[in-house]
Amino acid sequence: MKVSQTIRSVRKNVKEARKQDKTIGLVPTMGALHAGHLSLVEAAKKKCDYVVVSIFVNPTQFGPSEDFEKYPRPIDDDLQKCEKAGVDVVFNPSANEMYPEKVITWVNVEKITDNLCGHSRPGHFRGVTTVCAKLFNIVSPDMAFFGQKDAQQAIVIKRMVADLNMPLEIVVCPIVREKSGMAMSSRNKYLSEQERVDASYIYKSLQKCKEMIDSGSRNTKTIINEMRNILEQKESIKIEYISIVDEKTLENIDYIKNNALIAIAVRIGLTRLIDNFPIDITV
Ligand code: PAJ
Repeated sequence: MKVSQTIRSVRKNVKEARKQDKTIGLVPTMGALHAGHLSLVEAAKKKCDYVVVSIFVNPTQFGPSEDFEKYPRPIDDDLQKCEKAGVDVVFNPSANEMYPEKVITWVNVEKITDNLCGHSRPGHFRGVTTVCAKLFNIVSPDMAFFGQKDAQQAIVIKRMVADLNMPLEIVVCPIVREKSGMAMSSRNKYLSEQERVDASYIYKSLQKCKEMIDSGSRNTKTIINEMRNILEQKESIKIEYISIVDEKTLENIDYIKNNALIAIAVRIGLTRLIDNFPIDITV
């Protein structure tokens, strides 16, 4: 496995793979890799001949009061995991390599970044889309792999790629969960034992939502109230939002008529956790 810390080096590695007619898959990450990230690598290996994993804690997507400084950076461990997973090259640039100058050119997807996490994280998605556009330009992959875990992010990236005619396909992979049902996340490392137990109520509330929809409920207020009741059983859980939105516009809906997304964000102590279920009422 190769490790490239510069744009020049990763481009050289990709160019060599291209010369051998290999298709290129990119898995963008911020590191602290877990089974969720590795499922994206596995999907990339299935669909592409050459897999690039980027590990970069992107400063432009963190707000001033967020956890950029304390975000975990276990790079040796991450490289070992990538090697074991059969990654061809890890791109692990410094902040200076990615942003040698103050950014004045941003990629900004409008409207669908306003709701859900857009409310509490102003500027977050602009940082995500800008860094992903840069990574796509640096690596020029045929496919890039994202997790359903960050549902709004995946929808926003897909829209950016469509609107700007970027020549790659975005593949979205299912959420990998702990045994308790909690979605795997690099931020789970911040949780105490008790907080982890409490966090499993997020999944419980999503399951309740699914049960209600399966048995015919369509009124979103009723469903959200039931979910709120479950989450409020745990005092440590502070709900940021529970929303049922249209899967395309990401706007809140009153009644589920088409495919939708149920999305949750909570805080447990200082840790912010998100989770979601896509709602497919056609099955
Ligand atoms: P990060 O949080 O490291 O996540 C990298 C990718 O792994 C994202 O596409 C995310 O949705 C996916 N992922 C995380 N947890 C997952 C889980 N439990 N199951 C399946 N997939 C999971 O998302 C980012 O980094 C950044 O915003 C990035 C896209 C790299 C831009 O900086």
